[in-house]
Amino acid sequence: MRVIIQDNYEKMCLWAARYIAGKIRSHAEERPFVLGLPTGSSPIGVYRELIRMNRAGELSFANVVTFNMDEYLGLPHEHDQSYWYFMHDNFFNHLVDMKPENIHILDGMAEDPEAECRSYEGKIAACGGIDLFLGGIGVDGHIAFNEPFTSLSSRTGVRSLTTDTRIVNSRFFGGDPEKVPEQALSVGVGTVTDAREVLILISGHNKARALAATVEGGVSQRWTCSALQLHNGAIIACDEEACGELTVDTYKYFLDIERGERL
Ligand code: GLP
Repeated sequence: MRVIIQDNYEKMCLWAARYIAGKIRSHAEERPFVLGLPTGSSPIGVYRELIRMNRAGELSFANVVTFNMDEYLGLPHEHDQSYWYFMHDNFFNHLVDMKPENIHILDGMAEDPEAECRSYEGKIAACGGIDLFLGGIGVDGHIAFNEPFTSLSSRTGVRSLTTDTRIVNSRFFGGDPEKVPEQALSVGVGTVTDAREVLILISGHNKARALAATVEGGVSQRWTCSALQLHNGAIIACDEEACGELTVDTYKYFLDIERGERL
């Protein structure tokens, strides 16, 4: 696992955006580059920089296919807290050459949610698998909506949200946890770790325990992000604030071996 430590959130996002852009540009195969994407506060700065590059003519999305991680069950596209809405509002609508037919987001209004999830896995496979999965992380270490004790080999399916996650996410629902949907559709931990590369953004004091568990703890379904330790192409991009629970040795080790990556 690589851990890239940057001074602050802005530099973390800049590093991640440049890394993703480099991968898209150097993708030599004829099939499109397949990019997994998250929602949340963490990727906003990455999206901002990718949009800037795209509008400046430095990066094309014409040959990029995207698959989002998750979606709330029961929220229609036009709901301003649906992840469909978030992705279009914060990213897709601003790109000059993203093809709408290349955007994949789980349908929170699907009549048969389990069938929707199975079909999503089929679509990912039909595209040749995900080249790079960008992700964030919950304070309890969840990736996508794979809460603690979700199987580390899980596939796309319906997930129940913990009370903790509903409380954390209530900031987007007028502060009322009861307004946060109880369930979501989410790619599985196994779906994420099947990607050729996984890049997870971890920023801020409130993610410090999760970062330590991801990097230094044992592989455990208690911290679903810890599954990344078994992945051969996993990168954590984080900021100084998130490093508060790492041991000094771990912190110094990654600063040392990744010193060329510091912006
Ligand atoms: C939600 C999403 C996750 C995301 C997490 C952290 O629960 N399902 O994919 O990683 O929030 O969000 P934030 O980046 O806002 O802290």
